[in-house]
Amino acid sequence: MIVKYNAKISGTGRYLPEKILTNKDLEKIVDTSDEWIVTRTGMKERRIAADDQAASDLAYEASLQAIQSSPIRSKDIDMIICATISADHAFPSTACIVQQKLGLKNFPAFDISAGCTGWVYAANIAKQYIENGAAENILVIGVETLSKITNYEDRNTCVLFGDGAGATIISRAEAKDISQLIDADISADGTHNELLIQRAGGSRMPASQKTVKENLHTVQMEGNKIFKLAVKSMYQACHTVLKRNHMDVQSIDWLITHQANMRIIQALGNKLKIDEKKVIVNIEKYANTSAATIPIALDEAIRNNKIRHGDIVLLASFGAGLTSGSLLFRL
Ligand code: UT7
Repeated sequence: MIVKYNAKISGTGRYLPEKILTNKDLEKIVDTSDEWIVTRTGMKERRIAADDQAASDLAYEASLQAIQSSPIRSKDIDMIICATISADHAFPSTACIVQQKLGLKNFPAFDISAGCTGWVYAANIAKQYIENGAAENILVIGVETLSKITNYEDRNTCVLFGDGAGATIISRAEAKDISQLIDADISADGTHNELLIQRAGGSRMPASQKTVKENLHTVQMEGNKIFKLAVKSMYQACHTVLKRNHMDVQSIDWLITHQANMRIIQALGNKLKIDEKKVIVNIEKYANTSAATIPIALDEAIRNNKIRHGDIVLLASFGAGLTSGSLLFRL
């Protein structure tokens, strides 16, 4: 007989670097204004990692919090999946570095590159490992230090991004548990792979003096094309999981979407016809932290007593690839 277990979220944590970069600060760096940024994106400030802080440093702090908030101890972790596009190094994976920092070894640790959808991809992979019985407690991290690969001369991108980490423990649920990862849907449409890209530094365009001079190691984005695809793909991902589980939007207590633009969040909310009081937003404080936005917002909402044990939560994201995905769970 094949035994299938349920997976659940058993702990969350976050870490945001201390340094705050406000819209007013950005006015001094590029040709922009607080008014443009607030009305076009909803962002007011973002956090920036210190010169000596890499992705694994942020991820480690968030992971400690997640472990502390869960009933497990760090020695109970049997897998680490880290979602990031601004890793410490091209290799080894940031997950392996976090494993070392936590004093752990001898279990799988790997990174996922799915842009801003990375944490949703990682959580879905963790769900599979828990459900088939191959793991019991997986540390799932979303972390970015995008400030390190942002061109602060490009107003189209530099106002949008911030640094931060969110961590979650996904564990095997017990039979009596009401908490459960109910369903997830992840997808990609590679025909749009060039809309959001770090062109140089890989095998297509190895690092050279020319690539550095031409700023090709920084984030390049066609924002308004992504905008339209974002709403469509997140709506589709939400619709798929709701339909598959015979649920409608009324059954959802909370919606957390990727925090890329307030107008995208509102457009998705309107399309889903969800009460805006149920939509969690923190974009004004941290801006777009890519793979970290959802686990950060989730941790914040739990610690602020908004999302409570038993609540039904729908998460939706999109990002470089273009990737998209949703995750439906009961906390
Ligand atoms: O995390 C996943 C990936 N990223 C995203 O999801 C981003 C999705 N896209 C967006 O959020 C929006 O498209 C942006 C916020 C990036 C841009 O907003 P928009 O309303 O789509 O503006 P736009 O790109 O159509 O540009 C409108 C104008 C342009 O000027 P002209 O050509 O009309 O004179 C831009 O040059 O706004 C100008 N502009 C700015 N002005 C002041 C672009 N960036 C800025 C800026 N400050 N920072």
